[in-house]
Amino acid sequence: MKLMVVGGGGREHAIIKKLRENPDVTEIFALPGNGGIAADAVCVPIAATDVDAIADFAAKESVDYAVVAPDDPLVLGCVDRLEALGIPCFGPRANAAIIEGSKIFSKNLMKKYGIPTASYETFDDMDAALAYLDGAPIPTVIKADGLALGKGVIIAASREEAKAAVREMMADKKFGKSGERIVIEEFLEGPEVSVLSFTDGNTVIPMVSSMDHKRAGDNDTGLNTGGMGTVAPNPYYTKAVAAECMEKIFLPTIRAMRAEGRTFKGCLYFGLMITKDGPKVIEYNCRFGDPETQVVLPLLESDLLTVMRAVTDGTLADCPVRFSDKNACCVVMASEGYPVSYEKGYEIDIPADVLPGVYVAGAALKDGKLVTSGGRVLGAAAVADTLEGAVADAYAMVGKIKFGNAYYRHDIGARALRAGKED
Ligand code: AMP
Ligand code: GLY
Repeated sequence: MKLMVVGGGGREHAIIKKLRENPDVTEIFALPGNGGIAADAVCVPIAATDVDAIADFAAKESVDYAVVAPDDPLVLGCVDRLEALGIPCFGPRANAAIIEGSKIFSKNLMKKYGIPTASYETFDDMDAALAYLDGAPIPTVIKADGLALGKGVIIAASREEAKAAVREMMADKKFGKSGERIVIEEFLEGPEVSVLSFTDGNTVIPMVSSMDHKRAGDNDTGLNTGGMGTVAPNPYYTKAVAAECMEKIFLPTIRAMRAEGRTFKGCLYFGLMITKDGPKVIEYNCRFGDPETQVVLPLLESDLLTVMRAVTDGTLADCPVRFSDKNACCVVMASEGYPVSYEKGYEIDIPADVLPGVYVAGAALKDGKLVTSGGRVLGAAAVADTLEGAVADAYAMVGKIKFGNAYYRHDIGARALRAGKED
């Protein structure tokens, strides 16, 4: 079978490595992939957002199955285009990807169907938003409606900060069209849990839970990033919490999408906060998380392609999906200065013994050598019987990987290891 994976980060590398485990897979194209992915797939220099070129390529190569991994092409209708060519796909159509593409859509969906989330107001008029902030509880949370590379959420500790964020989004157009409409919502507190799920629109099967570490610095300091590391499972996601999430969040969400004529097929990502009033939805993503995928897929014991095809065919109810009860940890190695500015072009040395657990995100091949080309360069992921073991093994891998200006957090997994001991 010839597969095509759209995207080119650590998440896509993890998906590709897992898909390769299926013996029927003869060839995988990555669009665009990256210098590290090139060891596991044929990289084709087509941007993940160039839906026309992706469709042309898929038709020309007669690919048998496509996985569209990033949010932008999903929201742009890449799956709709490929399906129109008769190519089966993993990923939601545009009318379902809107669950991530518009925060106003997802907030209104949750309100209509009684799915627990932070209370909120939506605005398309800046003066109305500024006036509302005069009486809003502080801290408050300002969110751009549309996609903003994970940067469209501002937690404001004061009224002034909140108003400045609103002005930046709505007057200065910091996020372009994405910030023309905004959500102002209640600030929630509690541990965060990421739950990725497989769903064919009727059945929803949660994957093993995980914990992201979004801030750039140790002890959750510094700027928000795409994610500096992950562990799975997340100790805050107990059996009781999982049961409550299934009943009050997961099933109601897929039923709501179906009722709206927007059946969601693919990976639906639930970003949850476990508040004192129970689990609430912080955000939905219409795709696998990055770097959550790098700890979740290594724990998947079932064949990924088989599960994905069951999602596409609507037969997920009959498809066993098994996860190991081991633990995983992924430490992201970034370029010093990420997420603001950083240098590129440093040679990367990855010893062969750690290569199987390395997921490359931002690297290019130059004269046959792997060099840094992005903020997040790679993730080093390890699986072990215990969380302590997985964290230690991932950091041992990090110690062996060398490149110029490497930067990483030293405390990935520390919060999870403290869980239950302090809060
Ligand atoms: P998002 O881009 O939606 O993932 O949001 C980024 C981060 O902002 C989340 O991971 C949370 O840590 C935080 N956040 C988002 N919404 C809220 C909220 N209502 N209350 C507290 N923190 C939030
Ligand atoms: N790691 C968070 C995300 O993929 O959105």
